[in-house]
Amino acid sequence: MARNFDVQPLDATFGAVVTGLRLAELDEPAWRELHATWLDHALLVFPGQHLDSAQQIAFAKRFGPLEFEMSPVSNVRPDGTLRQERDEGDDVVKILKGNMGWHADSTFKPVQAKGAVFRAEVVPQSGGQTGWADMRAAYEALDDGMRSRIEGLSAYHSLHYSQSLIGHVPKKGTDDYRNLGFQGDVVALRPLVKVHPETGRKSLLIGRHAHNIPDMPTEESEALLGELIDFACRPPRVYHHGWAAGDAVVWDNRCLLHQATPWDMTEPRIMWHSRIAGDPVSEAALA
Ligand code: OGA
Ligand code: MN
Repeated sequence: MARNFDVQPLDATFGAVVTGLRLAELDEPAWRELHATWLDHALLVFPGQHLDSAQQIAFAKRFGPLEFEMSPVSNVRPDGTLRQERDEGDDVVKILKGNMGWHADSTFKPVQAKGAVFRAEVVPQSGGQTGWADMRAAYEALDDGMRSRIEGLSAYHSLHYSQSLIGHVPKKGTDDYRNLGFQGDVVALRPLVKVHPETGRKSLLIGRHAHNIPDMPTEESEALLGELIDFACRPPRVYHHGWAAGDAVVWDNRCLLHQATPWDMTEPRIMWHSRIAGDPVSEAALA
């Protein structure tokens, strides 16, 4: 059967660039094929789609209910002025900086996210890439000793923890506090090895929000989690996308980590994030 679109795998263990389709006009057969392609590659990159907000939300909803429809990830204030790196007291700048550490989304909430549709509207001249790392391939690349060491282990996930590592103590009770996710930060315990609910593949569940493996001294836990991130997030398991305005991606948050990369915040960067909700059974925290 002729494909409904073209799929060019990335030079990595995961990910593909998809062309020859309009996301805003996907019929049912093309959608089913695209969904299967997504489960297989975990990250799909769609250059030059130029979706508007309604089209982005509609596309995201094909993957399931949304955790939220549309959130800016941006250093531009509503009044058009720029948030600068030196704006130390700015909670949004701190979150943008936090995003530069490898993480999965909403792992500090009772249900972690299924994925995200993410679109570039305004991009800086250089930097401001987004990177993803394949935690399926990372798990498979572990040696037997490490695999048996981590089997059955879990870690707590917390946004307060990860932000405190970069010196961020958010201002309680503000809109930013709520909107940036601090309100949803509960005690979430998650396994280090996760089974994907749709593909059955095992993957590592780590990242900057993970801390304090139960029954392990804090230093040992930090060292182990750090070692796992360093090992997991390197070639051939990583891809960094240099954005052009109008590009969109969709990633599987159940088996990838992601990060932003630095840019000169005297330049605007405006990205739009639609977050696909996790299945409350398969993506629930252990406690
Ligand atoms: C996010 C995120 C990275 C980026 O939107 O959840 O981590 O490149 N974004 O802005
Ligand atoms: Mn994120």
